[in-house]
Amino acid sequence: MDLAMSFQRAKLVLTGLELGLFRALAEEPAGEADLRDRLALHPRGTTHFLRALTELGLLELVGGRYRASPAARQYLVPGQEGYLGGFLHAADAVMYPAWGRLAEGLRTGEAQAATFSGSAMFEQLYADDDKRDDFVGMAESSSRPLIPALAETFDWSSVKTVLELGGCRGNTVAGLVRAHPHLSATVLDLPPLRPVFDEHMARLGTAGAVSFQEGDFFTGPLPEADVVMIGHCLVDWTDDQRKTVIRNAHSAVRPGGAFLIWDPVLVPGEESYLRNLLRSLNLQLMTPHGAGYRLEDCRKWLQDSGFADVSHRSLGHDVTIVVARKDN
Ligand SMILES: C[S@@+](CC[C@H](N)C(=O)[O-])C[C@H]1O[C@@H](n2cnc3c(N)ncnc32)[C@H](O)[C@@H]1O
Repeated sequence: MDLAMSFQRAKLVLTGLELGLFRALAEEPAGEADLRDRLALHPRGTTHFLRALTELGLLELVGGRYRASPAARQYLVPGQEGYLGGFLHAADAVMYPAWGRLAEGLRTGEAQAATFSGSAMFEQLYADDDKRDDFVGMAESSSRPLIPALAETFDWSSVKTVLELGGCRGNTVAGLVRAHPHLSATVLDLPPLRPVFDEHMARLGTAGAVSFQEGDFFTGPLPEADVVMIGHCLVDWTDDQRKTVIRNAHSAVRPGGAFLIWDPVLVPGEESYLRNLLRSLNLQLMTPHGAGYRLEDCRKWLQDSGFADVSHRSLGHDVTIVVARKDN
């Protein structure tokens, strides 16, 4: 029963976010009556809603007043370093309804997300500023925790130039350049992201170190770089499309350089396997073409494209980085 009814717990967390509960309590702890006033909640249900969130470890009740627990403050309060709300907002508004149509998705193979229709996913997302900002927030909630490991698990000391394919508004590469200021970086992404890239780099103070190139990683040719990397992108596409991107990347990596891929790759037997199978199903519901892929398939695509030495390691957070070297 716990397994079958686990959507109830999920909805407690997502509804707390939707109501602004964690933000309100991080600003000021409050008793129930005060909270009901501040969030415009009806008495029926509220007591048990707050008590259940307390039992889940997201609220603490001290001296008759609720406050956000340390975990809620870290992950569920806007403005905090670990804030996951960008992702969880999309989880609530888009993924939750789409998972309600899982059977339909399995019967038809069609995406079930209400944010777009047909196969032109990014064009539709970027035609609407709110949808674009939600998508960017969601992407960064997933990639932000990986930046420290990305900066440390690869030896950047002899790398001069790095190109991130599908680098969005540059958040990941900006973190990398801050950790390794000798790097000169380029983000290649679709034209509608240029204005949000410019704004974000100005805010982070990395405008001089990271440039934006409008482009399409399927059509190439891509700008050359010592290291080309792509994260949380190949999962959005079919195997044939992935092979095309990998071939284009091979042409762009300078001899002696490397191509880095990070994704929630499917590795049977690893602790991440079930969660990444669920992510794969999520991609099938959310995108026209996406699905998880297996490490051994990725390794083969890289070798078939001419990369010499392929290795992998974990970046944490269920994400595997695959490192492929190009011969001198
Ligand atoms: C899921 S997001 C990942 C963003 C970023 N790498 C991260 O992990 O935060 C996929 C990115 O691929 C970009 N993209 C999609 N199709 C593309 C194409 N044909 N050429 C270049 N970028 C593309 C999107 O605009 C988006 O920024």
